[in-house]
Amino acid sequence: MPPPMPSRPTPVPHAPPAPRASTPADVRGHLGEVVVTGGAGFLGSHLVEQLLREGHWVHVLDDLSSGSFENLAVVRDHPRLRLTIGSAADPAIAQRVCNSASAVFHLAGMVGVQRLAAEPLVVMQGNLRCTEVMLEAAAAARLPILIASSSEVYGQGPVPFRECDPVRPGSTQNLRGGYACAKAMGEWLALAHNHQQGLPVTIARLFNVVGPRQNGAYGMVLPRFLQQARTGQPITVFGDGSQTRCFGGVREIARALAQLLATPAARGQCVNVGSDREITVLQLAEIVRAALGSRSPIVLVPHDRVFPKSFVDPHRRVPSLDRLRELIGWVPEQRIESIVEELAAAEPSPSVQRALAARAFS
Ligand SMILES: NC(=O)c1ccc[n+]([C@@H]2O[C@H](COP(=O)([O-])OP(=O)(O)OC[C@H]3O[C@@H](n4cnc5c(N)ncnc54)[C@H](O)[C@@H]3O)[C@@H](O)[C@H]2O)c1
Repeated sequence: MPPPMPSRPTPVPHAPPAPRASTPADVRGHLGEVVVTGGAGFLGSHLVEQLLREGHWVHVLDDLSSGSFENLAVVRDHPRLRLTIGSAADPAIAQRVCNSASAVFHLAGMVGVQRLAAEPLVVMQGNLRCTEVMLEAAAAARLPILIASSSEVYGQGPVPFRECDPVRPGSTQNLRGGYACAKAMGEWLALAHNHQQGLPVTIARLFNVVGPRQNGAYGMVLPRFLQQARTGQPITVFGDGSQTRCFGGVREIARALAQLLATPAARGQCVNVGSDREITVLQLAEIVRAALGSRSPIVLVPHDRVFPKSFVDPHRRVPSLDRLRELIGWVPEQRIESIVEELAAAEPSPSVQRALAARAFS
């Protein structure tokens, strides 16, 4: 899908960033320019706001394949923000953005189970390739880098998931495992850079993140439920609804990522990031219906009517947050009920509305 036309020329002119230290700089101690790949996406745009609030120069690298300028509307004219539209999988672009930076948050990636079901090759190759390239660019520039991995790596393992647990992408016949494998391979590459070259890498294993600007077009459950309830359609729950997830609020997750990269003890570590409050997907549907005062019926749809038979849905997904707590004193505060109430009170952005409408007709 071609990226939408930018509504303003890029890169945005900006004053030169502070000179880069010759040794890896601490993202907080040294307010140099911080690269955020995927910074025009859902989580990335909240991280960009957080970093700007903290006083950093921020350089967003995004190909706008699923992200959008609208996500950066609040900060788009900020004098410490610049944008490069391009792929994090392009070694020349990746190196160029890293050469003027002091640290990297690598969030660019392709998400969503529906996208994975429709375009497994694009999703697997896209995720793996851009992580490989960004790690090489960060290593060449000797920059601390945090990469966004996923709770998908745990597959169907016993909960709560601990960082030292084996990854379980499952059989190669199960295509869903390909995304998990790409993320796990990114982790291994990052840790190999750390081991072999001393690169300061931090791996954030993200659990379900929700909040404003999340795009439901690729199968994210909460935006889909909200859209269905808003428009009076049945709220469709895949399977029997007893599968569980833990939903973390995007603003506090963005804060946690910023803190993690600034924490030397987190380097060379893989860290679960999210909420550990477990609810069933059926409960989530009920929370949405209550928040919107909707009369939409909740309808159970057999899993294999929506996804290929080989697509295994993990039944429970709960993190152990011990490591995150030890590193940054993490206590998740945003409850899913209040996040849903906030989202219910707000209209989805025009780009999210367009994406959801396109999905409804595809
Ligand atoms: N949101 C979640 O619940 C969740 C859970 C687990 C992991 N993650 C990870 O967090 C990261 C951000 O996810 P998100 O939910 O914000 O998704 P998103 O789709 O909103 O953001 C991803 C961003 O990356 C950009 N992008 C994709 N490929 C690119 C490339 N090659 N070069 C440059 N930009 C590219 C997209 O345009 C988009 O702006 C991803 O790596 C994802 O795997 C998210």
